[in-house]
Amino acid sequence: MEIGDIGTVGVVGAGTMGSGIAQVAATAGFKVVLRDISDAALDRGIKIIERSLGKLTKKGKLSEEEASGILKRISKTLDLQEMKRADYVIEAAFEKMEVKKEIFGELDKICRPDVVLASNTSSLSITEIAASTSRPEKVVGMHFFNPVPVLPLVEIVQGLTTSDETVELAYEVAKRFGKSPIKTKDQPGFIVNRILVPYMNEAAFAYMEGVGSAEEIDQAMKWGANMPIGPLALFDLVGIDVALDVLEVLYREFGDPKFRPAPILRQMVRAGRLGRKTGKGFFDYTERV
Ligand code: 3HC
Repeated sequence: MEIGDIGTVGVVGAGTMGSGIAQVAATAGFKVVLRDISDAALDRGIKIIERSLGKLTKKGKLSEEEASGILKRISKTLDLQEMKRADYVIEAAFEKMEVKKEIFGELDKICRPDVVLASNTSSLSITEIAASTSRPEKVVGMHFFNPVPVLPLVEIVQGLTTSDETVELAYEVAKRFGKSPIKTKDQPGFIVNRILVPYMNEAAFAYMEGVGSAEEIDQAMKWGANMPIGPLALFDLVGIDVALDVLEVLYREFGDPKFRPAPILRQMVRAGRLGRKTGKGFFDYTERV
């Protein structure tokens, strides 16, 4: 399979990341089949795309015609079987190994044998996901960053069994999406999350210890380290549940206490304060939801 053979990209999961991936794939001219397990989830995903396209048209980066063409190239489905239409599949479902394994096992049966199955996992083992299929050499990590339409990086993750050919194809696909890929080994957190999420975690500890208010901690990192947004606002952007999942993986896989999640993160997840997507996290977004 070569990049020129790819006409339709399948995206499994229409959350923040899946919808962003569908958007950049459709913007690059691919047809997209976007799948989630409920109409509500699919509608929410399409709304995220419409909002993002709205921003881009307002800035003059896209015309109205281009934006409506992009939306038309995306078809929604509840049926995973529809992935048989895809020439390349990117999974962006929940960050739980059991969920990923089940989806990849199904995709392996549904998709043509030459189709590459990529995962947007932010920290789980690509090697382990690949082992749930009969095509481990065709399973690769494509880790995008939030907001997907804005941030250039895609980490291309080579599992122990991923072939060089599959890595090259994923690299080409990311470039065709207008992204700047970097290849990385299949180690927990890859490059970015291994460094970024512990930084965010330290901010959560500082908050718990009352070193400063949420506003002060974030403002300090913006003014003192030139961060575009503060670490606590970044938790809210990424999703506190998602960031906690990454920390749990780093903590478990490395067995190193430096990755111990700040207890407040668990409390916030239990309270449903997941960040922007639920209207409240370290900051309040209820007026914008
Ligand atoms: N779609 C399209 N455009 C968007 C957008 C979206 N979803 N979100 C923001 N933009 C555009 C805005 O329109 C604006 O455009 P302009 O420069 O042409 O005016 C530009 O991006 C900047 O946006 P804002 O002015 O609203 O606000 P900021 O300057 O604070 O930028 C941000 C927003 C791009 C989110 C910036 O704060 C940022 O880069 N923050 C850091 C994000 C980050 O670190 N992400 C990585 C998270 S880790 C991750 O995703 C991995 C996962 O596995 C955990």
